Amino acid sequence: MTAHQQVSMDWMTDPADEGHVPADLHPEIPHPARMYDYYLGGKDNFPADREAAERVMAISPMVRISALANRAFLQRAVRHLAEQGVAQFLDIGTGIPTAGNTHQVAQQINPEARVAYLDNDPIVLVHSRALLASASKGTATVVQADLRDPAAILADPHVRQVLDLGKPVALLLFAVLHFIDEADDPYGLVRQLVDALPSGSYLALSHGTSDFVPAEDATKGPAIYRGATAQLTMRSREQVLRFFEGLELEEPGIVTAPLWRADQPEQPTDATTGIWAAVGRKP
Ligand SMILES: C[S@@+](CC[C@H](N)C(=O)[O-])C[C@H]1O[C@@H](n2cnc3c(N)ncnc32)[C@H](O)[C@@H]1O
Repeated sequence: MTAHQQVSMDWMTDPADEGHVPADLHPEIPHPARMYDYYLGGKDNFPADREAAERVMAISPMVRISALANRAFLQRAVRHLAEQGVAQFLDIGTGIPTAGNTHQVAQQINPEARVAYLDNDPIVLVHSRALLASASKGTATVVQADLRDPAAILADPHVRQVLDLGKPVALLLFAVLHFIDEADDPYGLVRQLVDALPSGSYLALSHGTSDFVPAEDATKGPAIYRGATAQLTMRSREQVLRFFEGLELEEPGIVTAPLWRADQPEQPTDATTGIWAAVGRKP
């Protein structure tokens, strides 16, 4: 499937129709996007995704809490950025649409806010109509693209149609960098994207961590993802902080996702939820 291919896949809304799927969606292989959808309580997943997600949850019961906390952080961060006057969002690793997607949150603050959604998983494109149906015309696009190819992302005509890269952009990398391993130079990829954006742009990201997991358990979750379409590389607080080199961190700096500008009373698990979260501004 190519970017922006128009697809008719209403079957996805009808689980009884799971036998009728396009070959390149590989329903027999767990996909991180569909596993994440399952953690969030969504219905856009197949038995292989559910089985892998259940195995992760069995060894790491916090994973569902972490997924929900990550999603809530995404929404608070996007709202904060829109309130700072950011009107353009480059959301890479979008995931399957769920409640409170980036454009819905941003357009509550600024109805003119524009969003380019990018994900390398064709399943996300399958759901793009649902995503775009709720955006005012021309304010959002969905592109199949890989974070490991920043030059292609920056040159993509659909991205450039929606975003003016000469004006501040919020680069959103929520729960996606842990799918980029060291061999693919995640720091270099983020640097290339940030370097292409003007002063006043932002980087907002969340990242899975094993910082709060006993060392003997830290490799078990990533081991299950080894059978999925993307591998998992957890990073420490210091490693996540490195993504913000040269940027000014917004208050409260780097914290676990539930603690970033929390709008709920603190829960006992919040400080050790396995997702680091931060927002930085390009001076
Ligand atoms: C855990 S979901 C996060 C969804 C959403 N950003 C959120 O935080 O709620 C991770 C998404 O990243 C996508 N992804 C993984 N590796 C990617 C890559 N190299 N390029 C683009 N997207 C990628 C997956 O397909 C999946 O949809």
